[in-house]
Amino acid sequence: MVLFVRSQSSVALTPPMGWNSWNLFEEDVSDKLIREIADALVSSGMSRAGYQYIVIDDFWVGGRNASNELFPDPIRFPHGIKALADYVHSKGLKLGIYSDAAALTCGGVTGSYNFEERDATTFANWGIDYLKYDYCNAPGDMVTAFTRYKKMGDALRSTGRLIVYSICEWGQRQPWLWARAAGGHLWRTTWDMRDTWLSDRYDNGHNGIMNTIEKQKGLEKYAGPGGWNDPDLLVTGLSGKGKSSSLNGRFTGCSLTEYRSQFAVWCMLASPLMVNLDVRRMDTAVKAILLNKELIAIDQDVLGSQASVVIDANGWLVFKKELSNDRYAICVLNRQNVSAYFSFNLESALKMHGRWNAQEIFTNRRLRGVKTFTGELTAHDCVIYVLSAMNSLTK
Ligand code: GLA
Repeated sequence: MVLFVRSQSSVALTPPMGWNSWNLFEEDVSDKLIREIADALVSSGMSRAGYQYIVIDDFWVGGRNASNELFPDPIRFPHGIKALADYVHSKGLKLGIYSDAAALTCGGVTGSYNFEERDATTFANWGIDYLKYDYCNAPGDMVTAFTRYKKMGDALRSTGRLIVYSICEWGQRQPWLWARAAGGHLWRTTWDMRDTWLSDRYDNGHNGIMNTIEKQKGLEKYAGPGGWNDPDLLVTGLSGKGKSSSLNGRFTGCSLTEYRSQFAVWCMLASPLMVNLDVRRMDTAVKAILLNKELIAIDQDVLGSQASVVIDANGWLVFKKELSNDRYAICVLNRQNVSAYFSFNLESALKMHGRWNAQEIFTNRRLRGVKTFTGELTAHDCVIYVLSAMNSLTK
């Protein structure tokens, strides 16, 4: 007999893209919802743009049966998960699911601790393509976290099915140092994202877009094909809806400009792009953000390089991301609460010598031979340029 274990290293070569149920629907997940989301991802053009994974987050579990196999909540998922996975696959999409490295998940339903191999086999038999593995109710130290995550990572690998493994311990034990070794393809770097631009403190109840961006600085060296820093979900388009993202109404949502900036910065950071909004009812402006081909191409660039912050001064953040074919993406973000002018020189500020051709993403304006960038941005807006050297001497 030949034992053949397929390599998990051929998944998540670019940051995973898709939809997750948590921030908007919380415990209201069901077979009906997931099928409708699958249909909407296809009809809206989202799946064609790369949004491939549909992840059912917490609250899908009913319990364990007499042979200790997980089963779904029979009211929410009356046809079982295999039938749902078949439906999702028939639409050309992939199905993700959620569990926890403890006896109970964050929502208090059955988790996978001590049943890792059995659950990984069940997931593989159902046709699951992605597992988000949470860390509520588990011990706090890094060694135990690594051990528990690796146990599930090994179990997933030995199923032989290609399953993206998403590690979710909220960046509390520096997962960027060990998550790949545990078999992870992405690891959360922060507490849950809330639907707000900036909160006055950073913790699990108050974590806005800017709070999260701050936490990504310096993590760029850990990201690359097959392993991504995960700054959590895109709140783009939630508009204050959803118990989880608005924390029972505490946050009222962001402006369209802020949603666009979150999306743009996430693409610069080579972040997983997991939307949360109700894709069955998207308005045109939000859809235009999420379907921006140039931004998605920056996120999905084959080099898999995460932008670093090259300027952080006077209310401005400038990010630089290396792209394939000797190109760079530069993003200028106005974090001030007022409109302001910026100006920076590529050579002195970014150590980029010579002259560059640039394409400005939102306006599609093309600039030739630039050395200095200037412009005006309203509060919380950003601009992105894709640069290519004018000739090889200028690189
Ligand atoms: C944690 C995670 C969230 C979500 C919930 C589900 O808070 O960080 O992303 O999965 O659990 O209960």
